[in-house]
Amino acid sequence: MKNILITGGAGFIGSHLVRLLVNKYPNYNIINLDKLTYAGNLNNLKDIENKPNYKFIKADICDFDTISSVFSKYSIDSVIHLAAESHVDRSIKDPFSFAQTNVMGTLSLLQAAKHKWDNDFEGKLFYHVSTDEVYGSLGDEGFFLETTPYDPHSPYSASKASSDHFVRAFHDTYGLPTVISNCSNNYGPYQFPEKLIPLFINNICNNKALPVYGKGENVRDWLFVEDHARAIDIIFHKAKLGETYNIGGFNEWKNIDLIKVMIRTVDKFLGRDEGSSENLITYVKDRAGHDLRYAIDSSKLKDELGWEPSLQFEEGIEKTVKWYLDNEKWLENITSGDYQGYYKEYYTDM
Ligand code: NAD
Ligand code: DAU
Repeated sequence: MKNILITGGAGFIGSHLVRLLVNKYPNYNIINLDKLTYAGNLNNLKDIENKPNYKFIKADICDFDTISSVFSKYSIDSVIHLAAESHVDRSIKDPFSFAQTNVMGTLSLLQAAKHKWDNDFEGKLFYHVSTDEVYGSLGDEGFFLETTPYDPHSPYSASKASSDHFVRAFHDTYGLPTVISNCSNNYGPYQFPEKLIPLFINNICNNKALPVYGKGENVRDWLFVEDHARAIDIIFHKAKLGETYNIGGFNEWKNIDLIKVMIRTVDKFLGRDEGSSENLITYVKDRAGHDLRYAIDSSKLKDELGWEPSLQFEEGIEKTVKWYLDNEKWLENITSGDYQGYYKEYYTDM
């Protein structure tokens, strides 16, 4: 029996994790706490919302009093913390809200855990979900290891780096049982269409321009989101306290090459000539401070805890494209309304 507080469970990765844990562990109580910002969407969890071991609470992680009362009311013994502002472009326009949620929100959760667990740390765990972006940017060679020094460049990655430091500080200073994982770029169903893959799938379908930043030469290491959720499950149950684990797919793609794979896949499903939508590619002004390359070495996770990605990229991208095509309603719900304003503001030159 466990009472697990998952923060950000209505978001992209959080909803996959909530689904996995609710279905796999009927004897765990999963308490999903989410503020439901623009990125939080309860439609991501329709299939499990009535399960007896699942509970949703709408709250802000920065609200220390509410968080503390949730710890008491549900006898929380474990936290898996995913709630965050997560989009780099938004952090460039509005760094304050990233510091508020990602730094102060994490601190509020850490304080609540320390206070409520009151030095009785037996059977307790605070698991912080972080990103590979804290390590900065790589040149043409090499990989991020768990020991790579932090070197964040965007307000988003600076705020995530800061939250990681606070988690380690609580472990080292107060003995709080913590673990951190740093994952590479995720893709798959239920991702908000501000991120590259769902944004481009949506635009290809609607014959809209595809805004490629700079020359499209930046490299990202892509992991299917369900594999990330599986890794979190394994780390949650098997990690050594105080440790950090990198999660990645050994699956690097230059943006422009990835975009061409997406185009061919969408064209194929829509019955268009494969590659014909390449005429939508539009090179636009580069992202400020755009990291050139991310690549994760996840050997520690494989060697110590036995995790490996289960899906090949070609299969993952087909599955993903098919999901977005089959779930037009889900996409329509979030791309009507506020999304239109976001698009105009962020893609002014399109
Ligand atoms: P997301 O933006 O899809 O979801 C974030 C969720 O957090 C939303 O449901 C939102 O409503 C909630 N939230 C935001 N502010 C909140 C607050 N103040 N209080 C409570 N809830 C709040 O993000 P995601 O892509 O699912 O990322 C989840 C976590 O994983 C983040 O911590 C992110 O840094 C990390 N991460 C993401 C990726 C990726 O590729 N998406 C990769 C590595 C790590
Ligand atoms: O590496 C993990 C990180 O991956 C997570 O921590 C972040 O939460 C997540 O958003 C993601 O960050 P990126 O900045 O790498 O993802 P994004 O989808 O925004 O962009 C991927 C690449 O595509 C990046 O090089 C920028 C480029 N891009 C993105 C958009 C939205 C474009 O060329 N055009 C676009 O319109």
